[in-house]
Amino acid sequence: MGRLQKYLAECGIASRRKCEDYILQGRVKVNGRVVRELGVKINPEVDIIEFDGKIVRRENKKIYIMLNKPTGYITSAKDQFGRPTVMDLIKIKERIYPVGRLDYDTSGLLLLTNDGGLANILMHPRHEIVKTYIAKIKGIPTEKELERFRNGLLIDGYLTSKAEIEILSIENRTCVVEIKIHEGKNRQVRKMCEAIGHPVIFLTRTKIGELSLGKLKPGEWKYLTPKEIEYLKSLR
Ligand code: URA
Repeated sequence: MGRLQKYLAECGIASRRKCEDYILQGRVKVNGRVVRELGVKINPEVDIIEFDGKIVRRENKKIYIMLNKPTGYITSAKDQFGRPTVMDLIKIKERIYPVGRLDYDTSGLLLLTNDGGLANILMHPRHEIVKTYIAKIKGIPTEKELERFRNGLLIDGYLTSKAEIEILSIENRTCVVEIKIHEGKNRQVRKMCEAIGHPVIFLTRTKIGELSLGKLKPGEWKYLTPKEIEYLKSLR
């Protein structure tokens, strides 16, 4: 519940003082009836407020969040097995949802928003936004295997498009690689590594396009900066 003039001001009609004038002038209706007193309490969830005959709504504030998803969390609002979800990590009152998904056992950069338009753009394959991953894989791929990875592989009867893979370091019988793909099929990186005979031991996403995790630690999240939001919108 809140006062009518405060609500009108929050919706961008005018200053609170000016909104009081409008109420006194009889230009505001609550549930179809003109209200001329100041200080009337309303509930914006249920009451219909009109100004000069037009319904007044609070602009739905758009929220853009970057999470460093830890392993052991699922990317959805609810899990049928009661496992922790990424929503358990972000306690805010607005409803937001993840843009795409990371597997339960994958960590790293996940975006969440209530901006459905932008989410659709980011997820649409047409936009081919590059996603960067760091993976620890079993064994050390040969140059031939790396070329197969880069040129396209058959996974689940689907031919992957061009991808990048570079070896960053080698330790014992494993190595760490940087992978860049433009697509987002289910468990794609894992399946591609498997297809060249080097299954993933550990997988994390470090970048979506030019956005990177920066200093965010697993489990931490932040609101995107205006510059980061502007960048995402420029991908339209
Ligand atoms: N590829 C995968 O295999 N898993 C992810 O979580 C993301 C990309």
